[in-house]
Amino acid sequence: MTVCVLHAAAEMFPLLKTGGLADVVGALPPAQSQLGTHARVVLPGFPAVLAGLDDLKLVASLGAAFGAGDIRLERGVLKPHGVVVYVVRADQFYDRPGNPYLDAAHRPYADNDRRFALLGWAAARIATGVDPEWKPHIVHAHDWHAGLAPAYLRAFEREGAARVGTVMTVHNLAYQGTFPASEFGALQLPGDFYAVDGVEFYGLVSFLKAGLYYADRITTVSPTYAREIQTQAHGAGLHGLLQTRTHDITGILNGVDYSIWSPSVDDTIAAKYTAAKPAGKSKCKAALQERMGLTRDEDALLFGVVSRLTEQKGLDLLLSAVPDIVQRGGQLVVLGTGDPALETGMKNAAAAHPGAVAVELGFDETLSHSIIAGSDVVMVPSRFEPCGLTQLYALAYGSLPLVHRVGGLADTVVDCSLENLADDLATGFDFSAFDRAGIVGAIRRAFALKARRTEWKNVVKRAMGQNFGWETAALRYAEVYQGLLGA
Ligand code: ADP
Ligand code: GLC
Repeated sequence: MTVCVLHAAAEMFPLLKTGGLADVVGALPPAQSQLGTHARVVLPGFPAVLAGLDDLKLVASLGAAFGAGDIRLERGVLKPHGVVVYVVRADQFYDRPGNPYLDAAHRPYADNDRRFALLGWAAARIATGVDPEWKPHIVHAHDWHAGLAPAYLRAFEREGAARVGTVMTVHNLAYQGTFPASEFGALQLPGDFYAVDGVEFYGLVSFLKAGLYYADRITTVSPTYAREIQTQAHGAGLHGLLQTRTHDITGILNGVDYSIWSPSVDDTIAAKYTAAKPAGKSKCKAALQERMGLTRDEDALLFGVVSRLTEQKGLDLLLSAVPDIVQRGGQLVVLGTGDPALETGMKNAAAAHPGAVAVELGFDETLSHSIIAGSDVVMVPSRFEPCGLTQLYALAYGSLPLVHRVGGLADTVVDCSLENLADDLATGFDFSAFDRAGIVGAIRRAFALKARRTEWKNVVKRAMGQNFGWETAALRYAEVYQGLLGA
């Protein structure tokens, strides 16, 4: 039997992206379809989503729900892979300029509960047959935005609908989608769902908890994070529930879409290169130094960051180590956007070290590729990291990752310790204690390795030879689906 799965999510590359969730939702469905699982996606009808799809057609009118009238379900195709994407059209919810979650003042929209309840509800409607031409066996919900999908499916079953399997993937437990209990009435769920065994979380409605409670299976995006979130220290209040579901939880590492993130095919970088012919990488470095106003110096060890500027990402710790990079003759380039305090901190660092530190505030897909390609070292010093994608992209581009050893970072980067170098395993640098001494130690080891040119080249080659293709993850998800369907 061909398993049909419907992914429900808020973002999908290249239609709309604010972080790694979009990369995953853009790459996993085509990888699954190639390996025999039939995957489709449902997204909210944000303007960028509508603009990027071909052949949009009306599937069904869904009437009024959650205070939105005239809701329509449309279906289009995303090229080049040809993934079929359902779009929930509710213009009063989704036709807003800018960020999909935040208003112009960077505050969550006041009606986010209804906006994303509609996404979960629409996924459940598709799964119960609203499209006469297609119905999934499984709804696969991503993050809190889609967390109510399993709850609606359980509610529809009570009314006689056939059972549909559900998987909830946690990309980040820190974002839970919590709302005042007074909003529960607007969500069109049975009254008894507002309970500890349900959507209630410390007196609030939690979309993520709903997904974790009602879904048949839970996955998260790396094996280490799957273990971490079941501990009090990293469980963000949900570790108790997660512990009760430990046998239903699987950690599946994200992959890399090498048709987009590979220096041998990347049209956006200054020069293409491969592990065997790496000359283009120096051109990428020179172009990046030029573009960012850094001193043109081939020998300066260039550290790069592409990141959301949030507490999670540990960039305050990096700021404390900037003098250690600069005093050793290194350079730092940062692309990011987010917390005003971190943005200011970055700008101040650039002003204090002209020619050695450069910062671009904003979201810029092309520049992100230039930084991953042009840097010698890509830094991901996150306090916690469910998976992390930039360290995987860095490996592919021979830019050695420097990471805090947590979550998916621990699962993907092998430190240049003497033992790992001797055993031909090393691919980057890591540090365990999240403090200045920890990160500075790793930075010093990066400078030391760079000075040993042959060894550096060997590690770069090994990094570029790592394979984190999506096939492995797609097969693991297929196992989860099969276990769930009893196949
Ligand atoms: P997260 O999803 O927590 O933000 P990931 O490492 O999984 O972290 O994914 C981040 C994705 O977003 C990567 O594709 C990265 O290149 C991209 N990204 C982050 N910040 C920016 C930015 N300011 N401009 C362009 N791309 C960015
Ligand atoms: C989240 C996590 C990140 C992960 C991404 C995609 O945003 O913060 O670690 O790589 O989702 O799964």
